[in-house]
Parts: sequence; C-alpha cells; structure tokens
Amino acid sequence: MSEIREANINKFPIGNKLMALFNQNSTLESFIKKDLSILDLGFYEPSNFIYLNYTYPISEYMGIDLKEEIIYIPRPDDIVIPEDLVPGTVEEKFPFNRYLVFHKYYGMGEPLNKNKFENTFKFIYIDALNYLTELPSHKKFSLIVIRDLLHLLDRRKATEILDKALQHIKTDGLIYLQFYIEEQYRSKKINPYSLEESESILMKFSKIHLKEISNGKMTILGEK
Ligand SMILES: C[S@@+](CC[C@H](N)C(=O)[O-])C[C@H]1O[C@@H](n2cnc3c(N)ncnc32)[C@H](O)[C@@H]1O
Repeated sequence: MSEIREANINKFPIGNKLMALFNQNSTLESFIKKDLSILDLGFYEPSNFIYLNYTYPISEYMGIDLKEEIIYIPRPDDIVIPEDLVPGTVEEKFPFNRYLVFHKYYGMGEPLNKNKFENTFKFIYIDALNYLTELPSHKKFSLIVIRDLLHLLDRRKATEILDKALQHIKTDGLIYLQFYIEEQYRSKKINPYSLEESESILMKFSKIHLKEISNGKMTILGEK
C-alpha cells in the first residue's frame, strides 16, 4: 500500500505544496493548526484536501464546482493508480464510500467515521459567483483556494469572484490562487492574465507568503 502512496504523492499538488509551506513557516502553521476551514472554488476533485487532512486536520471543507462530472485523463505517472480509485461519477467520488477507497490507498491511521466525514467535507454544485453572492457576510474561512479557475472565466466575473472571496477570509486568513499568465497558453478556454493584471491581483494582498511562476502559471499564497 505504501508503494502506491509514495508513487502517487505528486497527485496532490496543492496538498503537498501547502504542507511544505505550513511546515516551513511556524506563523502559518500555528494559524492553520488553530483552525483550518477551507473554501475551494472550482474544486474538481477533492483528494488534495482529504490528503492534507491527514497532516493538518480540517475543521470544514466546502468544495464548490459547476460540474458534477470528472473526466479522468490518465497521465504517464498514473500507471500505479488503483482501478477503484479512478474517478467515475460523482456518486462514487465524494461521499463517504469514495473516501474509504481513498483512505485504503493513501490514508494514515483510522479513517474518519461517516458522520465526521460528512460533517467536515461538503460539496456543492453551483456557480462560484452565485455561491459567494448568497454566502452570509459573517461566514468566513481560514483558507480560500481558487486554483486554475479564474483564467477560465470572463475577466469581470473572475474579478468579482476574487473580490467577493476576499470578503470571506478570516483575519490572518490565507488565499491560494493559481492562474495562467503566459500568452502561449491562450486558447478558446484559457484567457491568461497579463503582467499588469497579475500585479493588480498581488496588490490585493497585505502579505505574500508565496509567489511562484511555473508552467505558465502564477501561484500566490497571501493574506488579505
Ligand atoms: C481546471 S479545473 C481546476 C480544478 C482544481 N481547482 C485544481 O486546481 O485541480 C477548473 C474547475 O472549475 C470548475 N468551474 C468552471 N467554472 C466555474 C464556475 N463558474 N463556478 C464554479 N466552478 C467552475 C470546472 O467545472 C472545473 O472543475
């Protein structure tokens, strides 16, 4: 089992990255250890956060996505992915049974019981902007993740999503963003941010813990 776990560790890029950052930065670590409540806009597949939960227990995870369907495209490093972990339909993906399969291969210790899992991990299929518009103003999260979503949207809508999301971050809370910034990735679906636009996004943060450019994308972990 641990072989499968080790071989697939890079399948949890957000989880791994956040774990490394929390590990290196004792202020961040103590903040998220106090409370790790996550809003993940355009989550697609929640494994990252289920995985993170083994090291940094999550008090609440709210995944928001428009689509219920995962189209699984195997990658060259996926050879060892177990058959029963290949995502199919939403019914088997997120609820407790899917979590148990996940736990079988990647889990540490005892799995969460059904109640605990369902009280912690929640998934809603709705447009991210609609979700944020209806979210009561007092509802705050300690970490908001918007990874590979903004460049898929009309810019005005993307900005509205980001600005509304910022209103739902706790004091000292974090926002994790990733979006394309390089023109070569422009396509029918992808509308990369210009350098000026990315600068104006960076200005929205009071403190930046990570700013990285890789594979045409900018990744930021910052505080409001
Ligand atoms: C490229 S995937 C990124 C998935 C994940 N955040 C990650 O980084 O691996 C983009 C996801 O955003 C979802 N999405 C697109 N438009 C959306 C919207 N308006 N509201 C919520 N989710 C949306 C898509 O269904 C898709 O699952």
